[in-house]
Amino acid sequence: KRLILIGPPGSGKGTQSPIIKDEYCLCHLATGDMLRAAVAAKTPLGLKAKEAMDKGELVSDDLVVGIIDEAIKKPSCQKGFILDGFPRTEVQAQKLDETLAKHGVKVDKVLNFAIDDAILEERITGRWIHPSSGRTYHTKFAPPKTPGVDDVTGEPLIQRKDDTAGVLKSRLEAFHKQTEPVIRYYSQKGLVADLHAEKPPKEVSAEVQKVLSS
Ligand code: AP5
Ligand code: ZN
Repeated sequence: KRLILIGPPGSGKGTQSPIIKDEYCLCHLATGDMLRAAVAAKTPLGLKAKEAMDKGELVSDDLVVGIIDEAIKKPSCQKGFILDGFPRTEVQAQKLDETLAKHGVKVDKVLNFAIDDAILEERITGRWIHPSSGRTYHTKFAPPKTPGVDDVTGEPLIQRKDDTAGVLKSRLEAFHKQTEPVIRYYSQKGLVADLHAEKPPKEVSAEVQKVLSS
């Protein structure tokens, strides 16, 4: 399957992705994770992306389209993929369609993580991540066994630099202005399935299962 996960910051895309990935053996391509890795490694791409990311703005379409074009060519992504955080503008959606058409494939489903803005600040400010695996925790909703420590590796957890109430406002603004049109773009193609992303993670997973098995 070729899936797209769309939703505002903190709506649960990164939480559901590994579950879907394991179930369907798909590759998980998260542009935010890839960009953060590039920033950490101080690559040319990372240096270009950092300023926009710190401010909660989108990085340029060219940069992210380039990353995705490279990634979906990989043999491991031929059976299918989960795009998490891409496409986020109409231009990105059109470019993706062009790329997929070249490979003779199409998007199967777009999962829309629908949720009220008001819930997101608590989710974002309580989030802790294990950078190398991408495992995500939450101080209240998904606490690690030991505070500040990854359950699997025992390595320290960190908070994302853009996970502050202030930067969240810009990220939400970018979502409403630039990414909501992408949901309409795919709605017109009849591909969108709406999820109740405000529910607990297990219930959201059950909704995802239902959509993907139908
Ligand atoms: P990105 O990394 O994609 O961030 P985002 O879209 O803001 O999404 P998040 O990762 O914050 O949220 P999520 O939905 O994954 O939530 P999670 O599951 O972790 O992008 C970052 C930046 O990169 C952008 O601002 C931009 O600058 C740049 N960028 C990336 N892609 C780009 C693109 N295509 N074009 C241009 N720029 C791009 O959950 C959040 C928390 O809530 C966790 O603590 C979790 O444990 C908890 N939680 C999850 N689900 C539930 C639940 N159901 N109930 C209770 N708690 C829950
Ligand atoms: Zn995420």
